[in-house]
Amino acid sequence: MKVTIIYLAVVLLFVGVVTSCPPSDREALLAFKSGLTEPYLGIFNTWTGTDCCTNWYGVTCDPTDSRVNDIILRGESEDKIFEKTGRSGYMTGTLSPSLCSLDRLTTLIVADWKAISGDIPSCITTLSHLRILDLVGNQITGQIPTDIGKLSKLTVLNIADNKISGEIPPSIVNLNRLMHLDLSNNQISGELPSDLGKLSMMSRALLNKNQLAGSIPSSIGTIYRLADLDLSMNKISGSIPSQLGSMPVLSTLNLDSNQINGELPVSLLSNSGLNIVNLSRNSLDGYLPDVFSSRTYFSVLDLSYNKLKGAIPKSLSSAKYIGHLDLSNNHLCGTIPTGFPFDHLEASSFTNNDCLCGSPLMRVC
Ligand SMILES: *[C@@H]1O[C@H](CO)[C@@H](O)[C@H](O)[C@H]1NC(C)=O
Repeated sequence: MKVTIIYLAVVLLFVGVVTSCPPSDREALLAFKSGLTEPYLGIFNTWTGTDCCTNWYGVTCDPTDSRVNDIILRGESEDKIFEKTGRSGYMTGTLSPSLCSLDRLTTLIVADWKAISGDIPSCITTLSHLRILDLVGNQITGQIPTDIGKLSKLTVLNIADNKISGEIPPSIVNLNRLMHLDLSNNQISGELPSDLGKLSMMSRALLNKNQLAGSIPSSIGTIYRLADLDLSMNKISGSIPSQLGSMPVLSTLNLDSNQINGELPVSLLSNSGLNIVNLSRNSLDGYLPDVFSSRTYFSVLDLSYNKLKGAIPKSLSSAKYIGHLDLSNNHLCGTIPTGFPFDHLEASSFTNNDCLCGSPLMRVC
């Protein structure tokens, strides 16, 4: 009995001691705070006192050792702090490298503050526990840290909607737990790493609106879980690897507004898992493969502004569903098939071809 009481007392004492933020974590947070200015909401006004684990807006600690685990600061959220002021977040300043001494950090979200500038501190790659790095929607410049691949636990890398330049570091393919990669709407140049397929856990790869060149690595076809691939609005050339046609869960494929050439791989349009496909504004040539079936189900199939020739395959009318079809601005010729899905499409889906005829075009065959 006595022993139990003493034991309990010791445990309580211990818990009492560690439920306060370690001074080194607190100092790191205060240095991070001093690099930033958030004039409208006053979120950093809560960052006072000795215990950073209690009531510091956006800071969460590990309950067992009180080390800082998460920093979650979103400039656009449902949080009541935003309701009060009736505006979304705005913050200037830079991300202090002092963050890097928070060596137990698993989540760093500093998203949608619109005006945070400066680089991603390169020491961030020493945060070996980091799982989520989300800096979307700021004005961050500079490059992706060269040794980003050291973040072996990273599952989410979202730095979209910033001003990041330079190339994709080759080490990125070592992020073998990465599930969500979003680099869209930056100024990233260079080529995609040819061994991008090593990212075997990846389900979303959004790289649209950059300056990426070179061709689409065929190794992407080996990413079993990839459901969403967006490379649109880049300078990508070469042909579409046929491997993309045999990806088991690929459902959205946006390659529009690039310089992609060659023929459409036969396997691609027969992949019945594909649901949204935009290949518009490229230089695709050759024929539309006659591979559609009753399992074909496209919400969007946009092949406009290419150099496709020949006829619209009859098999397309056996499709289960086609919501939005755009074959305009190609070199197609011949009779537009009748029956579903063609009966609900408008003329604009077929205009500016060489010699298409029949409904819904005015031109009689
Ligand atoms: C496909 O991409 C083009 C060019 O980027 C864009 O203009 C068009 O709206 C997209 N189509 C659909 C259906 O979203």
